[in-house]
Amino acid sequence: MDTENKVAVVTGGVSGLGRATSNELLKRGMKVVILDLNAEQGQALIAELQSDNVCFIATDVTDEASVQNAFEKALEQFKRVDICINCAGIAPAKKVLNKENKAQALSAFSLAIQINLIGSFNVARVAAEKMALNAPDVNGERGVIINTASVAAYDGQMGQTAYAASKGGIVAMTLPMARDLASTGIRVNTIAPGIMGTPMLLAMPEKVQNTLVENIQFPKRMGFPNEFARLSLHIIENAYINAETIRLDGAIRMPAK
Ligand SMILES: NC(=O)c1ccc[n+]([C@@H]2O[C@H](COP(=O)([O-])OP(=O)(O)OC[C@H]3O[C@@H](n4cnc5c(N)ncnc54)[C@H](O)[C@@H]3O)[C@@H](O)[C@H]2O)c1
Repeated sequence: MDTENKVAVVTGGVSGLGRATSNELLKRGMKVVILDLNAEQGQALIAELQSDNVCFIATDVTDEASVQNAFEKALEQFKRVDICINCAGIAPAKKVLNKENKAQALSAFSLAIQINLIGSFNVARVAAEKMALNAPDVNGERGVIINTASVAAYDGQMGQTAYAASKGGIVAMTLPMARDLASTGIRVNTIAPGIMGTPMLLAMPEKVQNTLVENIQFPKRMGFPNEFARLSLHIIENAYINAETIRLDGAIRMPAK
């Protein structure tokens, strides 16, 4: 897809991977609609960016009405939606049984599925509806959707049952979603990051961070958020990438803990 005059919706766009991606797309001249639960950080980011090409809409990706409303506002503001990048997510860590052999609360498991998996689908389905309104470009393309999984979809660690299940669901829905939307000219791809240097990771205890980095093969460091952003941009521009999940991970294969 040619990125000129295109409009992107980025969820989780006030922090980490979403923020880096919003910045990169803005730098390339696209218009960006940032959706995030964190309204305070959203307003601060808009004040900092000082650009007519970006707006923030406080949104809960798990909420049907909130997401519908966000896309209506995005259309009002920029008239079209061409790209949707789902970065909103949480990374809870809880073992099935705690130290006293008490079962994990079901609500903890549900929350990860609700935000990471159902939230991504909720946003993607409304994005697709709005992209379907676009006239196809010379290649028949109307839109691109990028979801964010994790390497935990393949090698989830201890304590990651809920997180891994939510991300595995994102990987699994990539192909059927791409198939559903193929006749509308919408591509669907997923990025599965490894260990990226974002607030989500940097909030973990230093010992945990160091152990995670030890398992990265090369380059032996956390991924830069901008490396995720540049991969997103490549997926947008390369019309032949479809229904694919791409690991972005320095060849890490995560051990049990
Ligand atoms: N950082 C990593 O190493 C890493 C690795 C693999 C996958 N990921 C995935 O990448 C995505 C982005 O992670 P990040 O590291 O940038 O995290 P982050 O915590 O920096 O950003 C996540 C953003 O999502 C928002 N969010 C949470 N719940 C929301 C909701 N219900 N509605 C709207 N917004 C909501 C938060 O407010 C936050 O701004 C997540 O899906 C995460 O699971 C991250």
